[in-house]
Amino acid sequence: MSKTLVLYFSVYGTAKNVAEEIARRTDADILEIEPAVPYDSDRSHYNDLAKLAKKEHDEDQRPAIKNVIPVEKYDTIYLGYPMWWYTFPMIIYTLFDQYDFSGKTLIPFNTHMGSGDGGTYKTVKRLAPNATVLEGLPVEMTQAERGDAERINKWLKAIKQV
Ligand SMILES: Cc1cc2nc3c(=O)[nH]c(=O)nc-3n(C[C@H](O)[C@H](O)[C@H](O)COP(=O)(O)O)c2cc1C
Repeated sequence: MSKTLVLYFSVYGTAKNVAEEIARRTDADILEIEPAVPYDSDRSHYNDLAKLAKKEHDEDQRPAIKNVIPVEKYDTIYLGYPMWWYTFPMIIYTLFDQYDFSGKTLIPFNTHMGSGDGGTYKTVKRLAPNATVLEGLPVEMTQAERGDAERINKWLKAIKQV
């Protein structure tokens, strides 16, 4: 069994695209962080999702994760998420509250529409102080939709994962 996991949260499917590309390239396992209460992935309902996400953020909520994440089985964990309100979705805080990443190598990546990583890679370092956090990869939404294979591969080479 591979000791590398690509773990991701994605509502519109673009972070999922990037996750799948990373898993293909690195021959890693892949797992979605599933919210206990699913988010509406219909893009025509964006305003509702934006409102909900803002409320979760402003109230410092910890949306529940439905599935068990077998963190202990892996040495290297990629962690992917979209940018929501200039940071990561609050469910990522739930992940760090529930699981211990000490001793692991964590590799963040994210999708966005202009905010880059929004400082979230620093937050990952803060929330997992005993993990080794490698340089992450922000992928703009339309590039993520097209499949940014070349850039992903370049990044994986730069951080010596392929
Ligand atoms: C609720 C919400 C808030 C967002 N906030 C930001 C933001 O602050 N900065 C940004 O660049 N993109 C923002 N976006 C755009 C998403 O990061 C972008 O659509 C991303 O590709 C979605 O990833 P997914 O397809 O994996 O769900 C936001 C999207 C949503 C739905």
